[in-house]
Amino acid sequence: AAADKGGYSSFMQKEILEQPDAVANTIRGRVHDGAVVVPELEAFGDERLASIRRIIVIACGTAAYAGLVAKYAIERWARIPVEVELSHEFRYREPVLGDDALVVSISQSGETMDTLMAVKYAREQGAQTISVCNTQGATIPRESDAAIYTHAGPEIAVASTKAFVAQITALYLFGLHLARVRGTLDASAQREAIDELLGVPGKLETVLAESAKVEQLAHWMADTRAVLFLGRHVGFPIALEGALKLKELAYIHAEGFAAGELKHGPIALIEPGQPVFVVVPSPRGEHSLHPKVVSNIQEIRARGARVIAIAEAGDAAVLPFADEVLRIPLAGPLFEPLLAVVPLQLFAMHLSSAKGLDVDQPRNLAKSVTVE
Ligand code: G6P
Repeated sequence: AAADKGGYSSFMQKEILEQPDAVANTIRGRVHDGAVVVPELEAFGDERLASIRRIIVIACGTAAYAGLVAKYAIERWARIPVEVELSHEFRYREPVLGDDALVVSISQSGETMDTLMAVKYAREQGAQTISVCNTQGATIPRESDAAIYTHAGPEIAVASTKAFVAQITALYLFGLHLARVRGTLDASAQREAIDELLGVPGKLETVLAESAKVEQLAHWMADTRAVLFLGRHVGFPIALEGALKLKELAYIHAEGFAAGELKHGPIALIEPGQPVFVVVPSPRGEHSLHPKVVSNIQEIRARGARVIAIAEAGDAAVLPFADEVLRIPLAGPLFEPLLAVVPLQLFAMHLSSAKGLDVDQPRNLAKSVTVE
C-alpha cells in the first residue's frame, strides 16, 4: 500500500527516493509530438488563457518555494508577469484583481485553509483561478476554475519533498502550455525545454545514487547550531527550501539568502566555522551567474565560512574555495533546482536522524493546516 514504509527507515526517505517517479508521473500524458498540452488547461480554454495579463501564485510553506522557482520559468517562456505571494499575506492586503489576473494556487493537500481562503477571495474579486494540487477532489481544486494535478502519490511525511518537485514539474508544464498558446516560444525552444524536463527523472536517480556523501556530512554536522543557505536566480528559492527543511526536520536555525544580497547584510553573520551551503549555478552558457556566485563563495570563505557547494559535475572552479562539494548532473539552468534540492532534503533528513528526532512527524507541525 502507498501508506506503508516498505522497508525504508521513514516515509520521508521513501518519498525522497520516489522523486524520479513523482516527476515522470506528473509529465505523463501531457507531452504530445514535441509540445506540451495539459488536458486540464484545454478544458479551461486556450482563448481564456491567452487573455490573461498577469499571474499571481499563492501558496504556503514548501509549495510557495515551488512557486518562486516556477516564476523564473513562466516569465522566461510565456513572457507574462508572475508574482508569488504567501496566501495569508495575499488574502489580507486587498490585492488589485480582475478577470485579466490568473491566480494559481499550489497546495499538496488541497486543504490548507490559508490558501483556500485566498482562492475564494480571488474568485470573489473576479480573478480566474487554477489549482496545482496533489490530492484528487480536495477542496481547493474544487473551488477553482481548473486543476492541474501533480501525480506524486500520497505524501505522508509532514515536511514536503516529492510534492515539491512534482509541483515545479506541473508549473513548468503549465508555463510551456501557456507559452505555446501565447506564441512566445518557438518550436525548437519548446522541444529543448521538454527534453530537459524528460531528462529530469534519470538525473534525479543519479543524484539519489550519490547520496552517501550527504549522509556522512549530516553525521559530522550533528552538533551544528546554525546553517546558512545561499543561491541566486532559481537557486535562491532552493536556498530558502534547504533552510526550511533543516528548521522543520532538525530544529536547527537556518536561513536562506539570495547570494547577491550577501553584501547588503547577511555577510555580517559569517564567522569562522559557520557552515554555508551554496547552490552554484552551472558555469555553462553566456549569461551564467556562476562567476558571481563563485566570488560570493570567495568572500565568505575569506571570513572563515565552511562552504558546502552544490555544483554541477565537472565544475572545477568551486574546488579551491569549497570545503565540500556535492555534485548534480548537467542540466539547463531552469532545471537545476529540481536536482539541487535533493542533497538539501537528504541533509536535513539525515541530520534529523543523527539527532534522534522523528523525521516524519516533527514537533509542532501538521501535514495539512486546516485552520487560519
Ligand atoms: C504545512 C506542511 C508543509 C507544507 C505546507 C503547505 O505547513 O507542514 O510541509 O509545505 O503546509 O501545505 P500544502 O498542502 O498547502 O502544500
